[in-house]
Amino acid sequence: MPYADFRSDTVTKPTEEMRKVIAAAEVGDDIYKDDPTVNELERLAAELTDKEAALFVPSGTMGNQICIKAHTAPGDEIMLHTDAHIYIFEAGATAALSGVMTRLIDGEYGVMDICQIKARLQPGDMHHAPTRLICMENTHNVAGGTVVPLENMREIYNLAKENDINVHLDGARIFNAATALNIEVKEIAAYCDSLMFCLSKGLGAPVGSMICGTHAFIERAMVIRKMFGGALRQSGILAAAGIYALQTMPPLLKADHDNAQAFASALYGHKHIDIDLHTVQTNMVNVVLKGTSLDGSDVSNLLREKNILVNGDKGSKKMRFVFHRDVTKTQTLEAAEALSALLQS
Ligand SMILES: Cc1ncc(COP(=O)(O)O)c(C=O)c1O
Repeated sequence: MPYADFRSDTVTKPTEEMRKVIAAAEVGDDIYKDDPTVNELERLAAELTDKEAALFVPSGTMGNQICIKAHTAPGDEIMLHTDAHIYIFEAGATAALSGVMTRLIDGEYGVMDICQIKARLQPGDMHHAPTRLICMENTHNVAGGTVVPLENMREIYNLAKENDINVHLDGARIFNAATALNIEVKEIAAYCDSLMFCLSKGLGAPVGSMICGTHAFIERAMVIRKMFGGALRQSGILAAAGIYALQTMPPLLKADHDNAQAFASALYGHKHIDIDLHTVQTNMVNVVLKGTSLDGSDVSNLLREKNILVNGDKGSKKMRFVFHRDVTKTQTLEAAEALSALLQS
């Protein structure tokens, strides 16, 4: 019996049609800008985000880190949410690769508190590291795939511009945010100077992310991508999947959001589970175990016996279920039932 995999939307596999497009891709050496498929993907990404230019990069982490390095110099300060992916899950790259200080901003549901940002802006006099960049994340992964409202993004962007600070958006799941808000991606991208989005999460491509920004920014990003070892050769093989993903997958994300809702509704009110329904806005459900001796790791092991995969840590009561094109509605409801039953017993 196949596994139902709720660990992440990064586990999606290319469809048959996507594999055909990959096999037929026209390629060239992208370092010479000779790969027509990569060139087309970059054109398409720039168009969708309404930025001047775009660049294909191997991963979301590399995309974020290239942007941070392009915006800053060692000793500068960047501001970001306490639970930002860039801060928690990118292996300390901001310090290692860009030599920047990180100033953390709190905020419920991944929404950075504008008052804290204002109070903590550093002027860059002789004593302080200057605030050079503010990084936002939409949707917000750790908060549970929550959507940062456009009003908050606009406020932060305007404040940044008044203070000559750039804004980067970790938009790994910007298409999920746009789906939830029922708007175009470019309406979100309007409130940042650079952004990264992933092709290899809910959009289902096997590899790759895009950086978008001005021509000058992307020129600089291209040099840093080379420095980081991320400049590829016949990457049209990968870009073809990216184009296919951008052209076909965004309308399908709503089904993943609906599955997340169905899962949360099925478990809401369970005596051993806490779910904050307000956080269930896109394709994730954060579950907190209560009144049970089981931890995330125990539950993960027990569900694995029923062919359900989900991450869970030793000693932690928090678990995250992620919904994507490779889990069906039936698998969603079966997983809710299995989790409910094993916590009853
Ligand atoms: C919000 C966010 N940003 C960036 C990344 C990094 O993407 P990648 O795994 O391609 O490095 C992830 C990955 O899960 C993410 O959730």
